[in-house]
Amino acid sequence: MCARALYELGEIPELGVVPEKMHAWVIRKDRHGLPLDSFRRELVDVPEIGADEVLVMVMASGVNYNGAWAALGQPLSPCDIHGRDYHIAGSDASGVVWQVGSSVRRWKVGDEVVVHCNHSCGQCHNCNGGDPMLCREQKIWGYETPDGAFAQFTRVQAQQLVPKPTNLTWEQAGCYMLTLATAFRMLYGHPPHTLQPAMNVLVWGGAGGLGSMAIQLIRAAGANAIAVVSSEDRGKWCLEIGAKACINRTEFDCWGPLPSTRDRVAYQAYLKEVQRFGRAIWQITGKGVDPDIVFEHPGEQTFPVSAYVCRRGGMIVFCAGTTGFNLSFDASYVWMRQKRIQGSHFATLMQADAANHSVMDGRVLPCMSQVFDFDGIPAAHDLMWRNAHPPGNMALVVNAPTQGLHNLKETRALALSVPGG
Ligand SMILES: NC(=O)c1ccc[n+]([C@@H]2O[C@H](COP(=O)([O-])OP(=O)(O)OC[C@H]3O[C@@H](n4cnc5c(N)ncnc54)[C@H](OP(=O)(O)O)[C@@H]3O)[C@@H](O)[C@H]2O)c1
Ligand SMILES: [Zn+2]
Repeated sequence: MCARALYELGEIPELGVVPEKMHAWVIRKDRHGLPLDSFRRELVDVPEIGADEVLVMVMASGVNYNGAWAALGQPLSPCDIHGRDYHIAGSDASGVVWQVGSSVRRWKVGDEVVVHCNHSCGQCHNCNGGDPMLCREQKIWGYETPDGAFAQFTRVQAQQLVPKPTNLTWEQAGCYMLTLATAFRMLYGHPPHTLQPAMNVLVWGGAGGLGSMAIQLIRAAGANAIAVVSSEDRGKWCLEIGAKACINRTEFDCWGPLPSTRDRVAYQAYLKEVQRFGRAIWQITGKGVDPDIVFEHPGEQTFPVSAYVCRRGGMIVFCAGTTGFNLSFDASYVWMRQKRIQGSHFATLMQADAANHSVMDGRVLPCMSQVFDFDGIPAAHDLMWRNAHPPGNMALVVNAPTQGLHNLKETRALALSVPGG
């Protein structure tokens, strides 16, 4: 049938019918700034897909820091990365396959899917038997690529899809993949420092997106998550989702860059406070038992402490520097105690798929906190930017006509009527 030029949000055209234009939240280079100012709703062209790509009708998405960094244009403008004059953010999505490229065989129009955000060349040795996260063309979809999820349709590589867990609503399915798969690779992707039963893992930001996914993976492995939080309420919430214990970081004062090791007085005072934090961990793990893995992402403010409290031969694994990238640590503790400092970035399809199975199996919940409608996208990112968001992962309804729907059949039944559709 003939497509209209544009469908309203919540209108579901006949399967496979692609309009020319779509509603999207757009970031432009000349208005980078706080999320409330930087994101604007515009009508843009529906992306055209290549041979190995899929067009997905986005039912729901999730809120990630990526969107805040993209809005701010810090440390880089995404437009300078991909070269288009506007950027559609959004690195999480649930939706329906709406069109497939000529070489796509694994997916067909109508499949219900969750999108993971690793975009890679598909042809190099790393993409074929190696580690696709090491591909020289590796990019994060919706951050380093121009067509993310904050639009009615998005363009993704066929390898970016996994099946949508049928037990979840669109918005639950749209909010967890980026944080879950990242946490999965951090905990399982760097052998021999992989998660095992009875290990102790210190999890920074336990009530955050990454932290909440990490806590559940750690519990599912029979290991102990020690969550660090900044309030009693967040601590209680972490215990409810499976943390063994919590530590409130506001009760300590050892944050920020390492003081000069040449200033003996200042350094000793600092070390005393770090050791007090270390003893708070021992109260949970037992005297002298340091964390096997430190799950790190705040960066500048916490990294020196992470590098100190990790056990001999243990691993500090980090995927971000939310509070700054100038990481410092006392090297003598790292070399003499033979600790591993490991960078980690999102995940491969293999890891995203394994992580998705833990959701299908009910061992990991999406921890969906708050759901925003399409027009709430700037406000949701503003909350995250201010660290004022509720625990877990925030979701965004994009093209689903309402919340609580699980599949295309239910969605179509409730969709706005489409004249001629
Ligand atoms: N490389 C990757 O693939 C990847 C993937 C996902 C996310 N990330 C990055 O990881 C970071 C966290 O993402 P997220 O989704 O988990 O964000 P989130 O939901 O905001 O959680 C971050 C947590 O960090 C804690 N935090 C904030 N300031 C802190 C400080 N000064 N010291 C210690 N903890 C602090 C907060 O917990 P409390 O205030 O309760 O302590 C907050 O809950 C972001 O920078 C994001 O861009 C990277
Ligand atoms: Zn490659």
